[in-house]
Amino acid sequence: MAARETAGLRPMLPTDGPLLAAIFRASIEELTQDDYSDDQREAWASWADDEAAFGKRLRDGLTLVAHVDGEPVGFVTLEGADKVGMLYVAPLHARQGIASLLCDALRRLAAGRGTTKLVVDASDSARDFFMVRGFVPKVRNMVPVEGEWLGNTTMELDLALLAERA
Ligand SMILES: CC(C)(COP(=O)(O)OP(=O)(O)OC[C@H]1O[C@@H](n2cnc3c(N)ncnc32)[C@H](O)[C@@H]1OP(=O)(O)O)[C@@H](O)C(=O)NCCC(=O)NCCS
Repeated sequence: MAARETAGLRPMLPTDGPLLAAIFRASIEELTQDDYSDDQREAWASWADDEAAFGKRLRDGLTLVAHVDGEPVGFVTLEGADKVGMLYVAPLHARQGIASLLCDALRRLAAGRGTTKLVVDASDSARDFFMVRGFVPKVRNMVPVEGEWLGNTTMELDLALLAERA
């Protein structure tokens, strides 16, 4: 594996929408092949086809962008007080700690706002990532997306418990 990259974090900028949509599509296309069929991945990636709606979803939440050498390489979105709505990393930058950096920053932000837990509907491809970060599987879901059924798992992270252990 290549040496870990030094990534920075910043809030989403109004102009980031198309770049983040491209990261979203590429990560689904290349990082979820072991867990989802071509048709399922195509349906999932099509969420970004309406870039205006996709950009609005990012802006309606609290979206953090990870960047390397000034280029966005991943993002995470907190929706409402406690939901990790989206977490996507560009394939070329996978397994470099980018999602960990994003997720840990989001956890600190949420805790700072008084949130006591984080919830995510984790894709099968991201389940091990969230397990490593202390999220606990709660419910198995099958979600209809553009005529396809996609499985995911609702997982929770108890922030109070995490603070006690720190
Ligand atoms: C899941 C995802 C966000 C992880 O991003 P990442 O930047 O590669 O994750 P990190 O490098 O921070 O991984 C940290 C640790 O999590 C675990 N992990 C991450 N991805 C994993 C995978 N695909 N399989 C098993 N373990 C994984 C590993 O323990 C890893 O540490 P290591 O690389 O030292 O072994 C990324 O693979 C992705 O965008 N996937 C496709 C889209 C998706 O499913 N998003 C989640 C929607 S809920």
